[in-house]
Amino acid sequence: MQEIKIERTTAPKAKPTDESKLGFGKIFTDHMYVMEYNPQQGWHDPKIMPYQEISLEPSAMVFHYGQEMFEGMKAYKCEDGRILLFRPNKNIERANNSNRRLCIPEIPEDDFLNGIKTLVSIDADWIPTRPGTSLYIRPFVIATDPFLGVRPSNTYKFIIILSPVGAYYASGLDPVKIWIEDDYVRAVRGGIGEAKTGGNYVASLAAQMKAHDEGYSQVLWLDGVERKYIEEVGAMNIFFKINGTVVTPMLNGSILPGVTRASCIDLCKKWGLPVEERRISVDELVEAARTGALEECWGSGTAAVISPVGHLRFEDEVMQIADGGIGEVSQKLYDTVTGIQTGKVEDTLGWTVE
Ligand code: COI
Repeated sequence: MQEIKIERTTAPKAKPTDESKLGFGKIFTDHMYVMEYNPQQGWHDPKIMPYQEISLEPSAMVFHYGQEMFEGMKAYKCEDGRILLFRPNKNIERANNSNRRLCIPEIPEDDFLNGIKTLVSIDADWIPTRPGTSLYIRPFVIATDPFLGVRPSNTYKFIIILSPVGAYYASGLDPVKIWIEDDYVRAVRGGIGEAKTGGNYVASLAAQMKAHDEGYSQVLWLDGVERKYIEEVGAMNIFFKINGTVVTPMLNGSILPGVTRASCIDLCKKWGLPVEERRISVDELVEAARTGALEECWGSGTAAVISPVGHLRFEDEVMQIADGGIGEVSQKLYDTVTGIQTGKVEDTLGWTVE
């Protein structure tokens, strides 16, 4: 593992005073982590420095062909003062899976984890403690060669920034209204849907704007080939409870393998609920809603943790799920995952890292 050179800020910024107004991803801490890559030295020269602007040539490849990878994870401060990360090795493993798909050199796992731990310790006073808040960790890699030909870059920057955050949606845990999109698609098998990269998120914007115009907060994505099978919701994975069984689309190459998704599956199984990872068609969903078999629906992701869905709309059909409130399993998953993350619920599964 490489030693990190540390330069502390001499001008610390004022920290947010009202933790109820943090929002998501608007405020950044005093420091950032940067490590460089070139073919001669590999990943080298890790540094922590004051949070600052970065300088790149306008020709840097990331601006033109989108060669970049990002991750999202969170740190929490427990009542006893311990600082916990939630399953960081899963994010690091996924980051390197994304890197391979995007032709970005893999980052040594020990340097990655050491970078996160050291940066979070240095900016530990920025971790909010109000319920529902955390320190969001955003690691990312960008291609920096000044070159306009289409090929993988030779040089990269790996950066980690931190942001104290509240709820991802202003509405918090209130159930959201979802628009089932049958025109735009987010990703196709063989594409980059299972990698965490900006291209998948820019691809989602037009449908998100369309859903907002129709009065819906997020989009439920269908597969890009048959336009028949459910894939994800907004920037999250999706779960249904149908006739007592928890169902989520199986990972098929175009769905992001969420860490919260994996945690929901493990917890539901531990609680003795039947769980199926399989294809689920929009027709099956509409039928389940019509007959009352659709008992719950929620999205899962790092940012929102659990986001209950109260309404779905497909073409002209509006489906209300149960009474439109928060379902029992959604609430239990939210309480358990956030309880483990904040040290309030015993971590019997060994998911947290101090
Ligand atoms: C997540 O919740 O995991 C996300 O990826 C959301 C992020 C794009 C803000």
